[in-house]
Amino acid sequence: MRVLTGIQPSGDLHIGNYFGSIKQMVDAQKENDTFAFIANYHAMSSGNGGADLAKLTMQTATDFLSLGIDPEKATFWVQSDVKEVLELYWILSAFTPMGLLERAHSYKDKVAKGIHANHSLFSYPVLMAADILLYSPDVVPVGKDQIQHVEIARDIAQKFNNEYGDILKLPEFKVEENVATVPGTDGQKMSKSYKNTVNIFGEEKKQLKTIKKIVTENVPMEEPKEYESCNVYNMAKLFLNENECIELQERYKRGGEGHGHFKLYLHEIIWEYFRPYREKREYYMNHQDEVREILHSGATKAKEIAMPMMDKIRTLSGIKY
Ligand code: ADP
Ligand code: TRP
Repeated sequence: MRVLTGIQPSGDLHIGNYFGSIKQMVDAQKENDTFAFIANYHAMSSGNGGADLAKLTMQTATDFLSLGIDPEKATFWVQSDVKEVLELYWILSAFTPMGLLERAHSYKDKVAKGIHANHSLFSYPVLMAADILLYSPDVVPVGKDQIQHVEIARDIAQKFNNEYGDILKLPEFKVEENVATVPGTDGQKMSKSYKNTVNIFGEEKKQLKTIKKIVTENVPMEEPKEYESCNVYNMAKLFLNENECIELQERYKRGGEGHGHFKLYLHEIIWEYFRPYREKREYYMNHQDEVREILHSGATKAKEIAMPMMDKIRTLSGIKY
C-alpha cells in the first residue's frame, strides 16, 4: 500500500509531534511503500521564508532522519526538489472552483485569527492536491485539521477525471483515532502555539527546567497523590511499559514523594528514551552533506513516479503539443 504524507518545516519538534505523528510514520514504513516529504512550499503560505526557511528545512530533515525515517525503506525528499508539483498545481487550478477553496476551514480559521491572507494561503489546498495526486497514494495519514484538504484533493481529482478519464487516483485519508492527545506543561494539548511543549532535542538543562514547570496539584510530600489527572504521570506513561506504569502509580499512591521527584523521574526517562536518536542527530548535524544527499536521492526516486505521471497529464491537458 502506498502511503504519502507531507511535513511542514515549522520548528523544534516536541513529544506531542513524536507520539501523535512521527512514531507512527516510522512504524508504518516497515510495511508500506512510504512517501514522505518536507512541505517547504507550503510553509511559505504562513509567512516563512528567507534563510530561516532553508534552515528549518534542513533541521526538519535532520530531525526526521534521526528519529527513524529510513531512506532505504521510505522515499524522503523536499517538496521543492520535484518541480513537477508546481506544474500540476497550475493545471489542477483550472479544475478548482473558487467555492471549494472559499469553504476551506483551515483558510477561514487562519483569516479569523488575523493572519494576513495572501494567494498562497488561499490556494494551499490545490498545491496539497498536487502533492497527493502526483504520486497516486492509496492513503494519506493526516491530523483532523487536514481531512478537508484531502477531500478537496478528491473533488479536484474527480473533476479532472471527468474531463480526461480515470487518471488521478482518489486518495483515502486516515486519521489515527486511538492516538491520545499528548498534554503540554500546562495540561492543555501540547502545541508550539501554546508555548507548553517539551521538546525532543535540545540541552538537557533546558529540558529539565521545562519539566519542572509542569503544572501539578499542591499536595504535601507525605500524602498520597492522584496519578490519573497528573500531567507528569500522563506524560511519563507514554514512555513506560505496563509494569513500569504500575510501579509509578504505586509511588503516587504510597505518598512520601513530592511532584518534584516525579518530575525528575520524567526527565530521566525522556532523556534516556531519546538518547539513541540524539546520538544519531549529533552524527547528522556533523554530516549535513549526507542529509542533503539523502534528500536528493529521495527526490530522484520521487521523480521516477512524478515524471511519467506529469507526461501523461501534459498530453491529456494539451500542454504537450
Ligand atoms: P503544533 O500544534 O505544535 O504546531 P503541528 O500542528 O505542527 O504541531 O503538528 C504536527 C503533527 O503532530 C500533526 O500530525 C499533529 O496531529 C501531531 N501533534 C501535534 N501536537 C500533538 C499533541 N499534543 N498530541 C498528539 N499529536 C500531536
Ligand atoms: N498541509 C499539511 C500540514 O499542514 C502538510 C502537507 C502538505 C501534506 N502537503 C501534503 C500532508 C500532502 C499530506 C499530504 O500538516
